[in-house]
Amino acid sequence: MQLTNEELKIKINEYKKKLDVAVVAHFYQRDEVFEMADITGDSLELAIRTIDSKAKFVVFCGVGFMGQSVKVLSPHKRVVMPKAACCAMASMIDGMQFDVSVKALNDSGISNENILPITYINSNAEVKAKVGMMGGMVCTSSNAKKIITTALKEGKKILFVPDRCLGQNIANQMGLKSAVLGDGTNIADADIICFNGFCSVHQLFSVDDIKFYRKKYPGILIAVHPECDPAICDASDFVGSTSQLIKYITELPEDQKVAVGTEFNMVNRLRAKNTYVLSSTKPECPTMNETTLRDVYDILKSIDEGEPLNEILVDENTQKWAKIALDRMLAL
Ligand code: 13P
Ligand code: SF4
Repeated sequence: MQLTNEELKIKINEYKKKLDVAVVAHFYQRDEVFEMADITGDSLELAIRTIDSKAKFVVFCGVGFMGQSVKVLSPHKRVVMPKAACCAMASMIDGMQFDVSVKALNDSGISNENILPITYINSNAEVKAKVGMMGGMVCTSSNAKKIITTALKEGKKILFVPDRCLGQNIANQMGLKSAVLGDGTNIADADIICFNGFCSVHQLFSVDDIKFYRKKYPGILIAVHPECDPAICDASDFVGSTSQLIKYITELPEDQKVAVGTEFNMVNRLRAKNTYVLSSTKPECPTMNETTLRDVYDILKSIDEGEPLNEILVDENTQKWAKIALDRMLAL
């Protein structure tokens, strides 16, 4: 049956009253989906706040690794996703590629005892579990610097997966040496060795975009997500996670212009005036945008009918070790 967005919203609200569910949405979701959420936030906030939710079903509007993190942290909860959408960066590495990366370090003379792996939360549970088994932990874009500072106290080399840019940006901020697997940089000499993964959405921003805005609007500020290339972050005024960007931008004086380098839906929602998207190409995350109001309605209907669709399941051993890696982060 064809329903308008307004009709879907009414029906979704009816299901939310009737069912034991919490609807959760990341900042990058479409506006109409985001409005339906009980819990919103960046990836770290969503993981933490969803653990505290009492609801039996978590309807997670986001990408796979986010819903999976909730399942890993709260295995008793039933986590369903309106769309089984997958973060392109998280898909760049699986357990086997993680093992190959460790082997590349071994081949450069770095033994396993001297490797501390850290995985960005944008990775699947299998990779988090591998990291947990090696004594490592998870980080997000909001706490990566803190996690790496703590990890370095162990005096080991850090293997950072999957986001090359986040790893390099943190290394630059901390005055550390970084290398990227497979690009010819010197692994043996680096403090942080990054897997060569990236986010295609955050690769859309360029230093030329920054130059363009600075020339067009003298005094404009540039704020970007740390998944952007180090050259972009170095040329910006502020670098932060989605929540940190929102705080920074909403606290600016009304007449301060700012150009933002992150996903379109979030930037578009921030401030009507004086906020610009730092790219001539619309930086939409294709998979975040897959979830529609219709999908939210369909998933709630499936819960009501006793046959939930797209339920996230993680095997026991993967859940155990991935949770250890996530818990190490949460403990900090
Ligand atoms: P945050 O951790 O800042 O929410 O970012 C997640 C993400 O996927 C950014 O592309
Ligand atoms: Fe993944 Fe990039 Fe989309 Fe974030 S914006 S969910 S990193 S593909």
